[in-house]
Amino acid sequence: MRILSIFFVLLLFQYPTILNSNSLKDLPEPAKKKIRELISTMTLEEKVGQMTQIALAALSKQPRKESERLVLDTLKLKEAIIKYHIGSILNCGGAANTLEDWHEIITTIQDIATKETRLGIPVIYGIDAIHGANYTIGATLFPQAIAMAATRNTELMKKAGEITALEVRASGIPWNFNPVLGVGREPLWPRFWETFGEDTYLVSQFGKAYIKGLQGNDIGANNKVAACMKHYMGYSVPKNGLDRTPAWIPERMLREIFLPPFEEAVKQGCQTVMINSSEINGIPVHSNKYIIDGILKKELGFKGFAVSDWEDIIRLHTRDKIASTPKEAVRIAVMAGLDMSMVPMDFSFYNYLVELVKEGSVPMSRINDAVYRILRVKYMLGLFDNPYPHKELAKDFASAKSAEINLEAAREAITLLKNKNSSLPLNKLSNVLVTGPTANLLSTLNGGWTITWQGNNESLYPKDKLTILEAVKKKIGNERVSYAEGVDFKGNVNIDTTLALAKNADAVILCLGEHTYTETPGNIHNLELQKEQLELAKKLYKTGKPVILVLTEGRPRIIDEIVDGASAIVMAYLPGMEGGRAIADVLFGDVNPSGKLPFSYPKFLNGNTTYDYKPMENFAPNKVEFQWPFGFGLSYTKFTYSNLKLSSQKIYAHDTLTVSVDVTNTGKLPGKEVVELYLSDLYASVSRPNKQLKRFTKINLQPGETKNVAFKLTNSDLSFIGRNNKRTVEPGKFTVIIKNIKKTFELQ
Ligand code: GLC
Repeated sequence: MRILSIFFVLLLFQYPTILNSNSLKDLPEPAKKKIRELISTMTLEEKVGQMTQIALAALSKQPRKESERLVLDTLKLKEAIIKYHIGSILNCGGAANTLEDWHEIITTIQDIATKETRLGIPVIYGIDAIHGANYTIGATLFPQAIAMAATRNTELMKKAGEITALEVRASGIPWNFNPVLGVGREPLWPRFWETFGEDTYLVSQFGKAYIKGLQGNDIGANNKVAACMKHYMGYSVPKNGLDRTPAWIPERMLREIFLPPFEEAVKQGCQTVMINSSEINGIPVHSNKYIIDGILKKELGFKGFAVSDWEDIIRLHTRDKIASTPKEAVRIAVMAGLDMSMVPMDFSFYNYLVELVKEGSVPMSRINDAVYRILRVKYMLGLFDNPYPHKELAKDFASAKSAEINLEAAREAITLLKNKNSSLPLNKLSNVLVTGPTANLLSTLNGGWTITWQGNNESLYPKDKLTILEAVKKKIGNERVSYAEGVDFKGNVNIDTTLALAKNADAVILCLGEHTYTETPGNIHNLELQKEQLELAKKLYKTGKPVILVLTEGRPRIIDEIVDGASAIVMAYLPGMEGGRAIADVLFGDVNPSGKLPFSYPKFLNGNTTYDYKPMENFAPNKVEFQWPFGFGLSYTKFTYSNLKLSSQKIYAHDTLTVSVDVTNTGKLPGKEVVELYLSDLYASVSRPNKQLKRFTKINLQPGETKNVAFKLTNSDLSFIGRNNKRTVEPGKFTVIIKNIKKTFELQ
C-alpha cells in the first residue's frame, strides 16, 4: 500500500504550480485531479486527521519556562501524526523559538509526517505572526496593525507583509494566522489594536496590501506564506467591549461594515480563514452555516479552508450551550462549514468526527470537501514538493534593510495630536526629563503577541532595541537626559523625585499609556487612563515646564483632563521594535510626523462614536464631539488644499468620476501629507453616514511645492446595503469632501 501511496504523492508534484502567474488562480485541472485521487485512497481516519490541528504545547515537554528552549515530546508527536494522522500543528509552545530551534522542530515534524505515515502527507504548520514573525527570536517586529493604519501607507504595509512572510518561511512555517480584518469600532475591546481601525475602506485596503505582501502571486514561492483572514466575522464589536462576548449586528450592518474587508481578501486570493470565537445575534459563528458556508463559501466563492479559533468547536457545548454534547458540537461546526479544528490540546475532535461519519451524521461528502480544501492549500504551498525549512532564507532574516523599513513604518505611524506654540520639535541642546511608566520598556512599544502571547516578559526582549528613554539619550546625549519612572502600572508613585528632576529640565517628555495585553486578559470596563498617570501629568504641569505627552497604547484611553495642560501630544500607538527611535526622531525634528488617526479618539467615557456617525447623532441638540477625529494628525509644516475639481457634475451608472485637488506645502519643512477623499450620500432609502472614506493616498511635498492629486470613483463607491440587505446604488446627489473643500455631483 505504501508504494502506491508514495506513487500518488510523488505524482502530486508532477505539475509545476502554474500559480506563478499574476494572480492567485485556482490549481490547474490535473493537480486538482491528483488531489482527488489521493483523497480516494485515504481512509476516513486519515481524512479526519487532516482536519485536526494540535498545538505544539500538547506535543512538547510542558510546563516550559518562557526563557527555556522548547523540547519536543517525540512520543506524543508520533502518536499525533501516526496514530491520529493529524495534518496541522500550531503555535510556539509557550514562547518564541530561535530560527535554529524552529528548523529542528519543523524538520522533526515533517520527517515523521512524510516518512513514517502511510501516505506521507506533510503537516501544515500555522503561527501567529501579527506584527512580524513574533514567535521567532530576533525577527523584525513592526508597528501593530492600528499603527500601520495610521501611516495610511499601503506600500509600507505590503513591504511589512513581504518581510513577515520571508521571516516566517525562514522559520520553516508556511501559514500565518493574519491579518485581522475586524473593523475596530469598539475601543474598549482588548484586540482593538490588532485591527486597522474603525473604517471599512481603510481596513479593506490595508488587509489587501498585507495579504499581497504575505502571499505574493504564488504562496508556493520559498519566501511567501498562506494568509489567514480573521476573525470571520463581527468579532471586533462585542456589545460590552469585553473579548469573546456577544455582538448584535443586523445583517445590513454586517454586510455594510464588517463583510467588505473579507470580500476584498477573498478577491486577493487569501487562502485560509479563521472563524470568530464569539456569537453574532445569539448564534455562535462556529455554528453559523449561513455565514460560513452561505456567505463566505457560496456567495463569495471562497476556495480555501476555514479553521476554527482556539477550542471554539467544543466550546459550542462547554460554553455556548448550543450543543448538548461535545460530539454534537463537532457535528454542528463541521456541517456549518468548518474544515479544520484548532482543537487544540487533545484528539476529541478526531474521535467524535470519525464516529459521526461512521454513524452517518456527517456525510463523507462534507469530509471530502474539507480535506480537498486543506490539501489544495498544502499543494499550493509546495509542501508536497518540499515541506522542510528553506534554510537559505536565514541570510535575509532580520536584515538591516528590514529594520530600516520597520523604522520608516514607525516614523510614518506617529501622529502629532497637539503642538501648542510649536513646542515640538525640541531643541537637541535642551535638557529633558523623560518620565512615565512606558518610558523605559520595549514591551509597551510592542504590545501582545511579542515573544510571548501577552508580550509582557520584558526580560526576553532584544537588548539591542531602544526604549524611548534610550533613544532620547542616544539622540541628544546622556548628560542632557534625566529619568524617573514617576508611576508604574501597579500604581506605585515616585512623584517627588520626578518633580525635583523636572525643575532642572527645559522640557519634560511624559510617556503614558498601557501595559501589554491581548485577548481576554486585556479586558477593561473603563477607557479612562490609569488615574496615577493622570495625576502625574497634572503635577508636572504645575512645574510650569513644557510637558510633551507621548502615548503608547493599543486603544485610545480617555485623557481629556490632561489634554489642555500638555504643550504637545504625540500618539505612537504600539510602534514596534523601532518605535523608541521613531519617537525620538519626531520629538527632536529629524522626522516630520505624518500619521493620521485610524479611529475617532473619544473625549468622554461611553462617548464611543465613530467618524461616520449618522446625521441624527449630530442633529441639534445632539452633538458629536471627539477628542480628535478619525483622520486627524498635525505636521511640522503646513499644507493647503485648493482647486478641487470633478470631471462631471452629472454621472451615469457606468461612468467613472475623476476627482482632483491641488495640495501645497506652504510651510518651511518638507513633509508627507495624507490626502483623504470622503463621500456623503445626501439622500437614500436608508440613513447614510454623514460621510465615508472612499480613497486616500500619501504624498511627499517640499516647501512651496504643489502636487495635483487625482482619484477615480466608480458606481461601487456610491453603493450601500439597502433595505433588502442587498448592495444597491440609488440615483441622487453626492458630495465629495477633501479636507474642508466640498463639491456635489448627481448620479442619474
Ligand atoms: C487565539 C486568537 C487567534 C489566534 C489563535 C492561535 O485565541 O483568537 O487570533 O490566531 O488563538 O494562536
